[in-house]
Amino acid sequence: MSQSWDSSIKDELQMVELEIHRSIRSEQPVLTEICGYVISSGGKRMRPGVTILSYLASGGKDVSEAIKIAAAFEMIHSATLIHDDINDRSEKRRGRLSAYKKFGLQQALVSGDFLFVKAFAIGGFFNEEIVSLVAEACTAIAESEIVQFEKEGEIAPLDVYLGIIEGKTAKPIMAGARIGAYLAKASPERIHAMGEYGLNIGMAFQIVDDILDIVGTESSLGKPRMVDFYEGKATLPLIHAMEDPEVGQRISQLFHSKVKGNEDIEEVFSLISRTDAVERSKEKAKEYAEKAIKALEGLPDSEHRTGLRRLAAKVVDRNY
Ligand code: IPE
Ligand code: IPE
Ligand code: MG
Ligand code: MG
Repeated sequence: MSQSWDSSIKDELQMVELEIHRSIRSEQPVLTEICGYVISSGGKRMRPGVTILSYLASGGKDVSEAIKIAAAFEMIHSATLIHDDINDRSEKRRGRLSAYKKFGLQQALVSGDFLFVKAFAIGGFFNEEIVSLVAEACTAIAESEIVQFEKEGEIAPLDVYLGIIEGKTAKPIMAGARIGAYLAKASPERIHAMGEYGLNIGMAFQIVDDILDIVGTESSLGKPRMVDFYEGKATLPLIHAMEDPEVGQRISQLFHSKVKGNEDIEEVFSLISRTDAVERSKEKAKEYAEKAIKALEGLPDSEHRTGLRRLAAKVVDRNY
């Protein structure tokens, strides 16, 4: 059986879980409960995995520090998901009710803030440079979310789409990969290369996420499909589909209509299937994944470098 991307860091990822659970303790049990609910409901743990693999592949020796930062990244990720589901009005996450549906809007909002703050408390354990790298990544998420919201209902040009996904998804993964190498005391060139790896798998990952929103299944994704179309978010496959000479105009008309029913959604789905939009988007994701793999070339051979390569391959080959 082929090994998974994270097979060399199973123990470390287990320790990340412990670190997270330690960090979310609170005098207010409801905060611990909500954060625990989100954290324990699953997730691929890609962000902590990238940070730890980057650390170990860059020659880091004291993995306990990478574990702490990895936990912080997963907490930030979970916090953004709690807030994202409020913004996107998404009722399901990781196969369960989203936090605001289960616990109410106010409680979920505050729990997201709590997770952010607790993550930064871990970062503060290190130094200013790390905190500022993490803060930069969080700023990128916030700014991209604003752009995305402002562009809702419009067919955004390709560069706007790429800018949004870079900020909301790729830059945080980039920061994790860079910090892993930084903690391992890698050279500036190596830190840069690891950042390139993180940035490019992040881009590939989000494009595939946008493809799966169309062609995935609710049971494997743990969230409903066709949400981007429904909400008027012009993702890469939708942008390509609207360029199609035969069905593009009809897709665009449905995309722009304010009220979208189930029939419209099914119509759009079948129209998209008649175009090469999904294929073209997959090609783009593959290009990013290949760039990520290329960025690993200067690293010495190790099982952790293999893990990073496997992850880049997996990102474009996943169905969940
Ligand atoms: C979801 O990320 C948000 C996006 C950037 C698309 P993941 O798909 O990595 O979420 P989990 O952690 O595995 O649930
Ligand atoms: C993911 O964005 C959340 C952030 C990176 C802030 P999306 O809204 O595109 O992801 P899903 O589809 O809800 O997981
Ligand atoms: Mg969302
Ligand atoms: Mg969103």
